[in-house]
Amino acid sequence: MTSPTALICETQAWKDLKGHVEDINKTHLRDLMSDAHRCESMMLEFEGLLLDYSRQRATVETMDKLLNLAKAAQLSEKISRMFNGEHINSTENRSVLHVALRAPKYAVIKADGKNVVPEVWNVLDKIEDFSEKIRSGSWVGATGKPLKDVIAIGIGGSFLGPLFVHTALQTDPEAAECAKGRQLRFLANIDPVDVARNISGLNPETTLVVVVSKTFTTAETMLNARTLRNWITTALGAPAVAKHMVAVSTNLALVEKFGIDPNNAFAFWDWVGGRYSVCSAVGVLPLSLQYGFSVVEKFLKGASSIDKHFQSTPFEKNIPVLLGLLSVWNVSFLGYPARVSMESNGKGVSIDGLPLLFETGEIDFGEPGTNGQHSFYQLIHQGRVIPCDFIGTVKSQQPVYLEGEVVSNHDELMSNFFAQPDALAYGKTPEQLQKENVSENLIPHKTFSGNRPSLSLLLPELSAYNVGQLLAIYEHRVAVQGFVWGINSFDQWGVELGKVLATQVRKQLHSSRTQGAAPEGFNYSTTTLLKRYLE
Ligand code: F6P
Repeated sequence: MTSPTALICETQAWKDLKGHVEDINKTHLRDLMSDAHRCESMMLEFEGLLLDYSRQRATVETMDKLLNLAKAAQLSEKISRMFNGEHINSTENRSVLHVALRAPKYAVIKADGKNVVPEVWNVLDKIEDFSEKIRSGSWVGATGKPLKDVIAIGIGGSFLGPLFVHTALQTDPEAAECAKGRQLRFLANIDPVDVARNISGLNPETTLVVVVSKTFTTAETMLNARTLRNWITTALGAPAVAKHMVAVSTNLALVEKFGIDPNNAFAFWDWVGGRYSVCSAVGVLPLSLQYGFSVVEKFLKGASSIDKHFQSTPFEKNIPVLLGLLSVWNVSFLGYPARVSMESNGKGVSIDGLPLLFETGEIDFGEPGTNGQHSFYQLIHQGRVIPCDFIGTVKSQQPVYLEGEVVSNHDELMSNFFAQPDALAYGKTPEQLQKENVSENLIPHKTFSGNRPSLSLLLPELSAYNVGQLLAIYEHRVAVQGFVWGINSFDQWGVELGKVLATQVRKQLHSSRTQGAAPEGFNYSTTTLLKRYLE
């Protein structure tokens, strides 16, 4: 057990893993993959979802050592503390309870001694009722027309999660059928070009604007909200706000001050981190307006199924735990700083404020389908080693079978899903190339070292339920990494710094524009750039 202020890297379990790197450096995935017993032990299934992590640079011994590290980091206790509503976000003195957002009605999850599940369901019931009114046309706009289009304004966690789920559901046949005749757009960026793009082709008479902001103070969101309020009131008059604008926030007082009727506001709570808020009204409201509540409920149930799995499954069979531990292995021991996949880690100090002696977090990037193959895969095959997550589905949402083609379009896509992990793991040797009669001068160019780790997640299909599962797996993976590294995965002070500096610039721009004051208080570079901008 570590004392509360010790860094995890001081534990024996960490040191054992450090020593073990030398053993792993003597292996190659080509050889590891030939051990069927090992591969079998690195595959696991949950509700039809298959995780294959056999292409990680890890052996059974590595996994044992990682499980020891989990013990040393008190992972089990930390997970329990999260589910028990303890204030594990200590820098903000808050519980971390996004799992309560998708808990069944009968569940009891307490924050500060109070069961929060009834409150969660009050809001969900309100969303169901409201979205049904909008979708059925019983709620109409200021000129009596049904509201068929929705613009959701929000940024960061108040945007990216809902956009991810919307992107996935758009092509799900059941969800798409429910969305017929409706449009959902997201306005995040402050660039006026994005405002123009968002309202292009929409009629204020038939548009509902949802302002999504946990704090209701975020500069970009509030300016976009004022801009769209102006768009509505210019076309329909000031009272139209009551029919055309609703809000999602934890700050209902500011919602009212903005001019939105609190009855048309959908609450959430400070125990929901912005980046973990897609299962609150942040995501559930816009998505229910687009697809209907019953589709979104399936998404919540999928996430909840992973919550239960995460909370109760032994670590050696626990998908988010294994993913989290493998990430720690790749970042902190093998030194792979990035990951291709589709978070508030990346801290400089431990949760107790001690400077960290190791990196905590990867640079994540990714691409859908084979787009990645045609852009950055050269780098991951021959350049830097970047562990990859490949996520595929057995069934396509929109199958296409063209006559005369060898395989269906989905088979074509999935051929790459199966081929790429092996290409990365095995690579290609000069001997193989010689056998293929590749000319000598091309051999160095066509040689691939291989031994590049990846993992594969094969889902039955991309239904709302599976999307919920996928989301929860990745949410919990981040938490596991943070718990093991001993950092706070639920605050983001780094982001705040940029906001403070932008505020200073905004004030300066205002005084320069209104009083002609020269920019002051900035360095030479910023002053010069500001002057040029103001000219
Ligand atoms: O910039 C980071 C952040 O604080 C995120 O956590 C949050 O999701 C986003 O800004 C938007 O904040 P809000 O929902 O309060 O507008």
